[in-house]
Amino acid sequence: MLTEILARHPSLAMHAHDGLLFDGVPLTPIARTHGTPCWVTAAATLRGRYAALADALAPTGAHIHYAVKANDHLAILAILARLGAGADVVSLGELARARRAGIPPDRIVFSGVGKSADEHIAALTENIAQINVESAEELEQLAAIATALNRPARIAFRLNPDVDAGTHHHISTGRQGDKFGIPAADIPALYARAAAHEFLTPIGLALHIGSQITSPAPYRAAFARAASLVRALRAEGHSVTALDCGGGLGIAYADETPLSLPAYAATLQRAFTGLDLALIVEPGRYLVGPAGLLLARVMLRKHATPRPFLVLDAAMTDLARPALYGAHHAILPLAPRHLHAPLSPVDVVGPVCESTDVLARARALPALEPGDFVAILDTGAYGAVMSSTYNARPLAPQILIDQQRAHLIRPRQAQEQLWQAEIVPPCLAHLP
Ligand code: LLP
Repeated sequence: MLTEILARHPSLAMHAHDGLLFDGVPLTPIARTHGTPCWVTAAATLRGRYAALADALAPTGAHIHYAVKANDHLAILAILARLGAGADVVSLGELARARRAGIPPDRIVFSGVGKSADEHIAALTENIAQINVESAEELEQLAAIATALNRPARIAFRLNPDVDAGTHHHISTGRQGDKFGIPAADIPALYARAAAHEFLTPIGLALHIGSQITSPAPYRAAFARAASLVRALRAEGHSVTALDCGGGLGIAYADETPLSLPAYAATLQRAFTGLDLALIVEPGRYLVGPAGLLLARVMLRKHATPRPFLVLDAAMTDLARPALYGAHHAILPLAPRHLHAPLSPVDVVGPVCESTDVLARARALPALEPGDFVAILDTGAYGAVMSSTYNARPLAPQILIDQQRAHLIRPRQAQEQLWQAEIVPPCLAHLP
């Protein structure tokens, strides 16, 4: 069972003496040196995943715009920037991070259902490649800002194709009733309005139907709707040159069979062949998910009915996905002696004062004891970025394994940093 998890994770190996290795580097010394909980990203794995996706997409001509929200650490962005990735950003902060990491403005697209005036101003001032407009209301705001700044805005309209991505309800974004995008029927009038505006240049469409998609069917349906809308817009005389196909490519957290890269590329190819469109994809999870893990230490094993609790020093404040989406993350012990030991079910929980602070329910694990280390796998996407400091828990440190070495890329947050921005008004300064 644990050996099956290992077999599904080519970046991991169990060394008879050094224990669990990630990109060839032992994890136990990292846990001992930097303490736990601790995030670890493997740069070679990340580069390998980017290369595999870029190769698969080559025949489609699609360009990769990494969805910064999945993991926005500057070192991760710098790795991807050097590989030639563009960025999909959804806030001023993500735009600033992408620029800081060296991603050029002409490779940045700005998505998001609510963009502030400051965000539109920054997008225009930085002259980024494209703004994905998600409503008639946003179009009005952008038109006014572009006019006031006397700057042209290249825009794509985000289509809500009303397609069920077949994924978790909370990460589905392309159905009627989801807040994202514009219904197909409303886009031609908005396109015409933009085309007639002095400072707006509509270049095409965008869509993103959800995340952790494991079947080609929803992509096929959404892409078919986008292709027919492109034809309809062209028939009305509009220029449509760009199509942003969003992200969503799923990974194997448990026993899912995700869409293969060739199947994904073929789906894109078939949908848009002959339309002569510049394609963009916005993967986040696919690139960084399996390139990261979270190290934790067993604090105690609490006897309970119906199952014992394994209390870790990592919690929902570090990794929110299980609490938010009931997400499954495989867990492996770091010590070699546990690999073939008998397994029994435990509830793996964190120390936070919430009943939802459960990292894994009824998980088959060996008899782990206080002090043992574990790795919570596939947490490179939507892991550290979604952490909070609830219960006054400082943010965990981050390590990057590159060239067979472990680099500290973010130290553990100091306790005082949690309150350094807080102001106690003078009337309370003299506490009794
Ligand atoms: N493009 C847009 C416009 C998006 O909203 C997203 C993700 C992506 C691309 C990247 O999707 P990906 O390739 O990573 O699936 N926190 C959730 C996932 C939320 C995804 C939000 N949007 C989770 O932990 O599963």
